[in-house]
Amino acid sequence: MELLPKDSLEQIRNARSLVFLTGAGISHESGIPTFRGEGGLWKNFKAEDLATPKAFQNNPELVWEWYDFRREICKNANPNPGHLTIAKWQKKSNFVSLITQNVDGLHPRSGSPSLLELHGNIFRARCTKCSEKFHLVDDGLDHSGLKYCKYCESLLRPDIVWFGEEYDQNLLTKSWELCKQSQVVFVIGTSANVSVPANLALTAIRNGALGIEINPEETNLTLSMKHHFGGKSGEVLPKIWNELFPNESLE
Ligand code: APR
Repeated sequence: MELLPKDSLEQIRNARSLVFLTGAGISHESGIPTFRGEGGLWKNFKAEDLATPKAFQNNPELVWEWYDFRREICKNANPNPGHLTIAKWQKKSNFVSLITQNVDGLHPRSGSPSLLELHGNIFRARCTKCSEKFHLVDDGLDHSGLKYCKYCESLLRPDIVWFGEEYDQNLLTKSWELCKQSQVVFVIGTSANVSVPANLALTAIRNGALGIEINPEETNLTLSMKHHFGGKSGEVLPKIWNELFPNESLE
């Protein structure tokens, strides 16, 4: 049973630019809780309660405790077939781009040669004063609790875009450009609750891209998509790969 009709398969094969736009759902099968599904709470706090400048200003210890907890989960998680299929696709064709909302580091670990991490990365921290950035593990700062800049000794914060904060303009500009010129956009594992990623997907669709969504649930993007697969990305993506490239093993 073919997952995709022949015209869509041809459109994907002939695409000169293809964009993957991913959210927390692609890491769910790696054991990382999504934000709005079960397991999304920590000590009865929602992400919206802790991932804000105000929360960090009021209680940096609590915010670092939450990120230290999540960083441990990410460290102990492994990329799943969904991440690995995207990485393989990017290595096969240099016109395949990856834009992710995820901060868990699983896309880079899966071997993706390039990606735009719109919301930052949980393994990076930056100085609240001099803005110097550090890789928490590589720079020996992977301990729990408050962390301080190696240069000016000021408090470090997670290098993550918090609610109410601006996106990195450079990343955003690149993301809009990629979506505007894409012929195919895969929207995977996002509830589309956050406006910028949702609008990126809609920009691609409005510019004629074939929209394919992979999510067990429907979202407010579903009606704009040509295809919606109500399944797990770790299962659906490899099947789409095998349908497109039957002679190229994912192993
Ligand atoms: N495969 C595909 N999709 C899945 C899977 C799976 N195995 N498991 C769950 N999902 C879907 C859920 O149905 C849901 O629609 O993943 C989506 C996860 O949605 P959210 O938890 O809202 O995560 P996300 O969309 O990435 O959140 C966006 O909001 O909290 C902020 O900055 C944070 O980057 C995050 C942003």
